[in-house]
This record gives sequence, C-alpha cells and structure tokens, in this order.
Amino acid sequence: MAYDFAVGQTNPETFPVEALKAAAMRAIDREHDSFNRYPGAYGHEGLRRLMAERESDREGVSVDPDQIVLTNGSMQAVTLAGQALMEKPGDKVICEEFTYSGTISAYSGIGLDLEGIPLDEDGMRIDALRDRLARLADADELPKFIYTLTTYQNPTGTVMPEKRKRELIEVAAQYDLPVVEDNCYGDVHFEGEKVPSIYAMDESPNQIYICSLSKILGPGLRLGYLLAREPMLSHIAGQRFDAGSNTFAAAIAAEFYSGGVWDHCETANPVLRRKRDLVCGGLAAHADDLCVWSNPVGGLFVWVRLPDDVDIDRLTGIANDREVFFAPGSSFHVKRETVPYIRLAFGHVPEADIIEGIPRLAQSIREARTSNEARAFTTLFD
Ligand SMILES: Cc1ncc(COP(=O)(O)O)c(C=O)c1O
Repeated sequence: MAYDFAVGQTNPETFPVEALKAAAMRAIDREHDSFNRYPGAYGHEGLRRLMAERESDREGVSVDPDQIVLTNGSMQAVTLAGQALMEKPGDKVICEEFTYSGTISAYSGIGLDLEGIPLDEDGMRIDALRDRLARLADADELPKFIYTLTTYQNPTGTVMPEKRKRELIEVAAQYDLPVVEDNCYGDVHFEGEKVPSIYAMDESPNQIYICSLSKILGPGLRLGYLLAREPMLSHIAGQRFDAGSNTFAAAIAAEFYSGGVWDHCETANPVLRRKRDLVCGGLAAHADDLCVWSNPVGGLFVWVRLPDDVDIDRLTGIANDREVFFAPGSSFHVKRETVPYIRLAFGHVPEADIIEGIPRLAQSIREARTSNEARAFTTLFD
C-alpha cells in the first residue's frame, strides 16, 4: 500500500478507454494511408484544427491552425523554444523561483542559466521582475526570454490575474524579451473565471504559448503543441530534427475530440476537484496548526508550506516509513535549494488513499519537527 502524492499524473479512473478504442478504429480505417508518411514539422492537420478551436473557445480570440506545431508532449515544445531562443551556453532565462522540475532539467541540460523570480499568490512578482531585469541590464546580462506558468502554476497552483499579465507584457516589451507561457494545465479548471492567456492578450510574435493533451487526456499519448506567430513559429519549428510528432496518436486524439474538446474535461475535472477538496480538507483537519497550503482553482497540485523546524530529509524518511510519498520543494526550486515546502499531487491518487494518506502525512510532519510551537507564519509566501 502506498499513498503516492509525488508524481503529477492524470486520473486513471476517468481515462476514456472505450471511447478511445472506438476512436482508434475509426482513425485507422480513415487515415491508415497517412501512417505510411512522415508527419513533417507541423503535424496532423485535424488535431491542429481542433486544438486551434480549443484555444479560440477558451481565449475568445481567433487562432489559426497554421500557428500550431504539434510536439512530443508539451515538454518538447518547452525544449524547442529554449533551443530557439538561446544563443550560447550560459545565456539566462527568467522564470518563477519555483517552476516545473522538468523545465529546470531541460533548460539546465541545454546550458541555460535559470534566474528565479519570487512568487506571491498571484504568480511571478512583477516588481521583483523589474528589479532583476534592471540589474541584469546594468550587468549586460539580459536574459534571452521569460518562461512563465501563469495558470495553475506547477508547483504553487497560483493564477496570474489579467492586470499582472498586462504588466508582464509591458516589462517584456521594454526589453524586447520573448515570453514563453506554458499553459499545460489551462483546462484542468475547477471554479471561477478563466483568465486570458498572454498569447491572447498581445499580438507580438514575441509571445509563445505551449499547451498539452497530457493533462486533459493522458501523458502517455505524448501530444502537446506550441503556438506562435511568424517569424517566431518557423524559427522554433526549425529546431526540430525528428521528422514530426506521432501521426497515429494524433489521428486517434483528433477522432476522439471530433465531437468537441470540452466533453471529457467536463467528466474529468469534477473528480479532480473533489480530490483537491479531500487534500485541502484533510490538511485543514490534521495540519492546521502546522502548515499553510494553496487551494488551487485548477491543476493537479497542492503546495504546502512546512514549519521552519522541519528537516525535510527526516520528514521524507518518516513519511516513507508510513508509505507516504511527496515531492520536496527543492525539486521545483530553480537552483534546487532546500526550501520548507512540499508538493502534493492528487490527480492519480484514489480518494480513499487521500483520506488515509493526509493524516499520515500530517503526523509525519509533526514527528519531523524539533518543537511543538504553533507555526510562525500565516501565509503561503513571505
Ligand atoms: C508546467 C509543465 N509543463 C510541461 C509539462 C510536460 O508535460 P507533457 O510533456 O506531458 O505535455 C508538465 C508536466 O508535468 C508541466 O507540469
């Protein structure tokens, strides 16, 4: 038995097995000829059309399928954008101080130097961004681009409001910096208004947008995409040498979504929302005197601030002995620093395991402390 809050995966219980089987049969019947050909850099036209509709519907702006390049998961889009925008190893990229661990690995791996900007409840802090850019400009070390998770940020769950997005657009324009907005959780939405994406708010070719099918369908399909305007789109697509992304998976996904992109989200999201409630309710019942945590309005993660006197290695040991697993905050810190946070992924965890696992986690936190004092903070961020 394991209570596994470590890995960010979708909910297997709502994976649409029968509908996908039927879609696969139809796709193979109709499109088998195309499986004999290489897809090319842009990929399956039908799926690009559907994803353009998905973006147009959500964002309320017109999106042309020709602005979309399908990729091998959004991770390939993240990497291609980095490769296209950097000039040499050691170039800087700005991102949130806590960001997706896969991006930290990919960007460090291709030689980018990540500069983390502190977050608050509304995402990347623009005052801190302004200060950092001014300092980097003085040192002639301006970054090549800004990478940001504005919606249901991984790991913190924050959403950047429209006003702050406008400020980000302005600051980026002041230094002529491209912005890569990774919106891969954009449709894992539980409640409240959806905030428009930066891509929809600004027509500059410096705006690059990334999304995925991993979080609304399944990561095993390895289908994601990048949206940009020319000349940026060709510049980024020119970085790929893999002959394009999987037409077979794309054809099945296109067939599956042919009746509309939102139906499956409407089935999957309420279940995820209930799991979010179970995690947050469990923390409120068992860890209120210890921790502060996010209550994300979308996405797959709860970000938990621990008392300062918790030794994370000790906590990991104690929790693992109780079969409880989580991701330590250091995995998401741009410099991999030890920080008093953990991330709880709830998408794939059965409800019964959340109900049993959170009290076990709370007890582990209690035992990993060196005092019995109540926590000394009331907010998620300083
Ligand atoms: C913010 C973010 N971007 C990109 C990815 C990569 O997802 P995929 O390549 O499966 O689309 C993830 C996966 O967890 C993520 O959290």
